[in-house]
Amino acid sequence: MDVFDGNKFLNTVLLLITTIIVAKLISYFIIPKSKKRLPPILPGWPIIGGLFRFLKGPIFMLREEYPKLGGVFTLKIFHKNITFLIGPEVSAHFFKAPETDLSQQEVYQFNVPTFGPGVVFDVDYSVRQEQFRFFTEALRVNKLKSYVNQMVSEAEDYFSKWGSSGEVDLKYELEHLIILTASRCLLGREVRDKLFDDVSALFHDLDNGMLPISVLFPYLPIPAHRRRDNARKKLAEIFANIISSRKGSNKSEDDMLQCFIDSKYKDGRPTTEAEVTGLLIAALFAGQHTSSITSTWTGAYLLCNKQYLSGVVEEQKNLMAKHGDRVDHDVLAEMDVLYRCIKEALRLHPPLIMLLRSSHSDFSVTTREGKEYDIPKGHIVATSPAFANRLPHIFNDPDKYDPDRYAVGREEDKAAGAFSYISFGGGRHGCLGEPFAYLQIKAIWAHLLRNFELELLSPFPEIDWNAMVVGVKGKVMVRYKRRELSVNQ
Ligand code: HEM
Repeated sequence: MDVFDGNKFLNTVLLLITTIIVAKLISYFIIPKSKKRLPPILPGWPIIGGLFRFLKGPIFMLREEYPKLGGVFTLKIFHKNITFLIGPEVSAHFFKAPETDLSQQEVYQFNVPTFGPGVVFDVDYSVRQEQFRFFTEALRVNKLKSYVNQMVSEAEDYFSKWGSSGEVDLKYELEHLIILTASRCLLGREVRDKLFDDVSALFHDLDNGMLPISVLFPYLPIPAHRRRDNARKKLAEIFANIISSRKGSNKSEDDMLQCFIDSKYKDGRPTTEAEVTGLLIAALFAGQHTSSITSTWTGAYLLCNKQYLSGVVEEQKNLMAKHGDRVDHDVLAEMDVLYRCIKEALRLHPPLIMLLRSSHSDFSVTTREGKEYDIPKGHIVATSPAFANRLPHIFNDPDKYDPDRYAVGREEDKAAGAFSYISFGGGRHGCLGEPFAYLQIKAIWAHLLRNFELELLSPFPEIDWNAMVVGVKGKVMVRYKRRELSVNQ
């Protein structure tokens, strides 16, 4: 480059910079200011914004910022704006908005390689809605009644293998039992009886293929993703065989697999084998870790709170006096004390700590302090069960395990209106498996309370914030001694 060329280059750069500055000044002084009342923005680094704070743990970030900023604020990460709506006063729109305003598809896209093509977040909302109808039908009370019988017999069978006394890792035991029960009720008899080991190993690979990095880059060519993709292909083959053999022999079973095989879209089209496989994978991902984690927390709290432990034991005795040894859907439905104990463990430890949507239209919210904010379309909108479930203006002494807060007269989960207790989400996309989850956890704990004395040996467990589905850290060692609960004890 000669001197002349060098000057020309310098002049061009100077011209460019001057143009940018002038354009900025014009837009600042001349273009009318937006009337939008945008939420406060969390301070962050240039370009990456609040990435590090978010990665360090969103709940820790919320604990720091909520007292300063209130329930609505925006975190910038690269070019993305994530606006948090914390508390029932501001989160109603999050839960109630139609898909055209707030959608799940973009933010939950990372599930597509796990669930497979043609289902849930890989299809348009109209198809997804129909597929959720299949879930709703598969989880109706008449179906739940037959699932409960299978849950009860799985629990009896599993715990019959424990000795007369011993020490176990309760977390491991409950995880295993729930995989077995889920296999039986959801995946079907063929998997539970003949293919359990193969199918569990494949689900394990699917599970390990969903990492925090997969949320941002679901197709990154890493070994965990390759194993995930292979596992899903093999599962599709296994289920294609089971489905065609059921169809061929005209056999019908009492499980979710059968419901999905028999499901039809509005236009009369039956589900394909690939869709059935994908929906079953989605059901297992939605319900397995969430339920096993909640069973473990429930146990940890009961074994540390003698008052509540004797409350649930007393309830079992009363039900035994009334119904004998029978444990079915209707008997489980009467276990209100146990229900409240599970619900409280789940309030303190919701396994899904963050729920997300993508906004397609502007909307406004008013905080409990009366501040109004406009959230522009294009923002990702987030709420957090783990944080919102412990708001002190909703739940009295929020960090305390207090199942009686749901009892008649207090009902803290309802007093401040809908969306106060959000472990199962709520509104338009509220959990479809909530009744199934409660029945399963109650069936397990009813069996344990009736047949064992239990003592927690480990210190009270800590939270494993690093997991995708947030659960219990480390082992939860428990000493058990077989007993037969009698009505007159
Ligand atoms: C303790 C156990 C469970 C917890 C804590 C839980 C939690 C949740 C939450 C928070 C949502 C809402 C997600 C969002 O708004 O983005 C949800 C949705 C859902 N859950 Fe569950 N879940 C549990 C068990 C189950 C089970 C056992 C099943 C099925 C067998 C299930 C099936 C579903 C489905 C299909 C949806 C999507 C509903 C929709 O988008 O319309 N869940 N769950």
